[in-house]
Amino acid sequence: MIRGFIDDNRERMLDELKELLSIPSISTEHSNAKDVQICAEWIADHCKSIGMKRTEIYPTKGHPIVYSEWLEAGEDAPTVLFYGHYDVQPVDPLNLWTNPPFEPVFRDGKVYARGATDDKGQVFLHLKAIEALFKENGSLPVNVKLLIEGEEEIGSPNLSPFIREHKEMLRCDTVLISDTPIFAPGLPSLVYGLRGLCYMEVELTGPNRDLHSGTFGGAVDNPINALANVIAQLKDGYGRIRIPGFYDDVLPLTEDERTDFARLPYDEKEYCNALEIPFTFGEFGYTTYERTGARPTLDVNGIWGGFTGEGAKTVLPSKATAKISMRLVPNQKTEIIAEQFEKHIRAIVPPTMKVRVSNLHGADPALTPRDSNGVKAAVKALETAYGKKPVLSREGGSIPVCLLFDTILSAPTVLMGFGLNSENAHSPDEHFSLDNFEKGIVATAAFYKEFVLE
Ligand code: BES
Ligand code: ZN
Repeated sequence: MIRGFIDDNRERMLDELKELLSIPSISTEHSNAKDVQICAEWIADHCKSIGMKRTEIYPTKGHPIVYSEWLEAGEDAPTVLFYGHYDVQPVDPLNLWTNPPFEPVFRDGKVYARGATDDKGQVFLHLKAIEALFKENGSLPVNVKLLIEGEEEIGSPNLSPFIREHKEMLRCDTVLISDTPIFAPGLPSLVYGLRGLCYMEVELTGPNRDLHSGTFGGAVDNPINALANVIAQLKDGYGRIRIPGFYDDVLPLTEDERTDFARLPYDEKEYCNALEIPFTFGEFGYTTYERTGARPTLDVNGIWGGFTGEGAKTVLPSKATAKISMRLVPNQKTEIIAEQFEKHIRAIVPPTMKVRVSNLHGADPALTPRDSNGVKAAVKALETAYGKKPVLSREGGSIPVCLLFDTILSAPTVLMGFGLNSENAHSPDEHFSLDNFEKGIVATAAFYKEFVLE
C-alpha cells in the first residue's frame, strides 16, 4: 500500500522536494535569515496540507521552530516525536558545484542540491510517510509530534530553552530522528552513538597594521607563522591531541564493540580510492571506523590572514585567524573541552602575540539505547524497507539536541537515517539517493505501525 502510494505520487513528490530544496535556508548566514523563515513557512504549510492537526511556527531569538501534531490516536496510544532540521550549511566553494546548490537536479537516481541528504530530503520523506498513512487509513497508528528546527547546523542554540519551556507539549514515548547515514548502499543501520563538537576560533594579532615585509621582516614576529606553529603543537605524530586533560573523560571502546565494528563491511582500499588519498590518517592504534565513530579528533576548518589574492604581495600581516574544531566522544563535555583548549592556546602562544579565543558553538556527544521499544520497531521497519536487518553503528557527526531529549523529556532516541556518507553532506554536489528516499518512506510508515509500548 505504501509502495503503491509512492508509485502513484512519485512525480508530484519529487516536484515538492524540488521546491523545498530550492529555498536557500543557510542558518549561519545573516543575509539568508529571510530564506530560513520562508523555509519554516514552507514546512509548516506542508504539515497542514498532509493532514496534521495543529501546526505552529515558534519564533526564537534566532531562526524559527516548526511544531506540528496529530494526537487523535488517543491517550492510550503511544506518542512519537520526530525531530529534524530544515536549515542547511553554507554552499562555498560555489565554483565546485556541477549545478547551482539551490537549483535541484535529478540525475542518475539522485537529487543534487544543498540540504538534499542533510537534512531536508530526510525530513521530507517523513512528511510523505505521514501523508501516505493518512491516505491509507484516514488516521495514523500512533500520536505524532513533529519538531523541525532551523538552527541545527549552528549548534541548536535556541532549542534547549524551547524544549524546557514546552516539556508537556513535547512529551512522548520515543524520539525519532532521521539525520544520519545508513552504513552502505542497501545496508540499513541504526546509529547508537554520535560524536560531540567543540568549535573554537583563534585570532592572533602581532603589529598594529600590515607591514612591508622587507622593511620589518626579521624584526617583527609574524602572526601567521606563529599561528601555524601553535596549530602544529596541537597534535603529536601519533594523531593524539596534546591539550592537557583532553582524554580524561573519554569512554574507552569495549572489546565487544571493537569486535562488532570489525565485522561491519568495510574496505579500506575502496575508502581511499573514493577520496583519492594514498592511505587513511588518524590516531595510532585504532581502525578507521573506530577513529571516526568513537574516538575524538581535532581539525582546522579554516585559516586565513595576510595576502591571498592573485600574484605576490610582500606583506607582514597584522592578524591571523583559524577555526579549529574538535569532535568529542562520550563522556567528554563540550564546555570543559572549550576551557581546556583556551587555557592551552594561551599557554603556547608566543609572547609576541595578542590572542583572542572564542567558542563558536558545540554539542555534547551522545549514546542512545540499543534495546528500546523504538529500536525494536525500527529494526522491523528497516527490514520491511530493505529486506535486511540493520546493523548497529556509531557515527562521527553530531546532532546537538540528541542528548537533551533524554535529559529533559526522559525519552529514548532512535537514530534511523537514510543518507549515505558518500553523499557530500556539507560539501559541493550534495545529493540524496532516491532509492533511499523511497525506502525511507516505507520504513517510516512501518515504524509508526510497529511502534508499541510494552
Ligand atoms: N546530519 C548531521 C549529523 C551527522 C552527520 C550525523 C554524519 C551522523 C553522521 C548534522 O546535520 C550535522 O551536520 N551536524 C553538525 C552539528 C554541529 C554544527 C553542531 C555537525 O556534525 O557538524
Ligand atoms: Zn549537517
